[in-house]
Amino acid sequence: MKTIIEPFRIKSVEPIRMTSRAERQVLLAAAHYNLFALHSDDVIIDLLTDSGTSAMSTKQWAAIMLGDESYAGSPSFQRFEAAVKNLMPFRHVIPTHQGRAAEAILFHILGGKGRKIPSNTHFDTTRANIEATGAEGVDLVIAEGHDPAAIHPFKGNIDIDRLEAFLDAEGDAVPCVMLTVTNNAGGGQPVSLANIHAARDLAHRFDKPFIIDGCRFAENAWFIKIREPGQGERSVVDIVRAMFDGADGMTMSAKKDAFANIGGWLALNDDALAERARMRLIQTEGFPTYGGLAGRDLDAIAQGLAEIVDEDYLAYRVRTNDYICDRLDALGIPLVLPAGGHAVFVDARNWLPHIPPLAYPGQALACALYEEGGIRGCEIGTVMFGRAPDGSEHPAAMDLVRLAMPRRVYTQSHADYIVETFAELAARKDSLPGFRIVEEPKALRHFTAKFAPLG
Ligand code: F0G
Repeated sequence: MKTIIEPFRIKSVEPIRMTSRAERQVLLAAAHYNLFALHSDDVIIDLLTDSGTSAMSTKQWAAIMLGDESYAGSPSFQRFEAAVKNLMPFRHVIPTHQGRAAEAILFHILGGKGRKIPSNTHFDTTRANIEATGAEGVDLVIAEGHDPAAIHPFKGNIDIDRLEAFLDAEGDAVPCVMLTVTNNAGGGQPVSLANIHAARDLAHRFDKPFIIDGCRFAENAWFIKIREPGQGERSVVDIVRAMFDGADGMTMSAKKDAFANIGGWLALNDDALAERARMRLIQTEGFPTYGGLAGRDLDAIAQGLAEIVDEDYLAYRVRTNDYICDRLDALGIPLVLPAGGHAVFVDARNWLPHIPPLAYPGQALACALYEEGGIRGCEIGTVMFGRAPDGSEHPAAMDLVRLAMPRRVYTQSHADYIVETFAELAARKDSLPGFRIVEEPKALRHFTAKFAPLG
């Protein structure tokens, strides 16, 4: 069959409150054109993030009831630890309340003034946790990773030559080498198995621990299976194990590829590092058998990890984004191509050339999608990255809108509705207004800035 259906049935539903365009115009103005200020029940299709927004399965909800809330030694922890080690056989698995808590603990130990940490592209919380210690995050993704239209099967790859040159020049300042799979900040693009192993071997040649940010490890493994020569016959579980083979640690947000609404972990092989991480965990998160989580959350993650490597699910997951991208592409809408694993990224700067970067084309498109169809996406561009620490403002490298797909939440008719909303916008895109910022905080302005339309 050509149609890849949602490989699940719906047993429990959450109603969507339908709104009219006139209502949304009022709501948008009241939110000062910042979609983070909207109430989520005023949103028809919420594509703000794929993080923590997954639909849990019947077995996950059943596992929630089996959660054991003992402070120490809970069997929920043992089930969680076994599920992680089944896929990623690290010696130490340290639960945290979400991914950034794992990052904070890791860089509390490995960061510090003068240190430099290379990756393909650090996600913003990773970078923030590195910088909070006085260290510097350095992005070394391949050149294709910066070009929305460049077709490459693994646009998330780290540039091995640049990494080698960097380690040669800066080796003494480097406490570890990182790699983010998939590369969220670069469009949800995968990293090939060959590239993961080359980065690992290079890190080890320079005696550096190799740490994977594994938030979307299963989507990455699926791309390896379908795109990387010689990998097509392997099971996803086998590929996941190969991805982490020889790695020295990982950070993880279970809010992504573990189908959980909350959770994460830090995994390490080195006993001394793990000991220091657990000391910090006890200070900031909790006892090492629960981290920042309830026992029931650990059980939901354990069950989610068994489900995320299901190949029918992954085929459907990646196909959803391809389906939307194929149709948007046919409408002439510029995209980050090929489609990423967890989101569709629209190149707003390129689609709305009448709006200059400092009039925020990504914000303009995000607002128009909400007004037109009640769809909430997220600007990733000059609003998010344009304000420098010295107060000056510059265009970001790209002005994108990310439409992140919650896992197992929306169906194909929702996808068709998203496409139809774009088709409606296409007819009047040249009249969409740019925006100016009327109020903004000192940092992370995209969350709370207030905007006004121009003209
Ligand atoms: N690393 C990556 C690659 C991420 O995408 C995220 C979160 C984190 C780390 C941090 O994990 O949220 O559990 O603390 N990304 C979300 C997003 C927020 O919308 O892309 P967290």
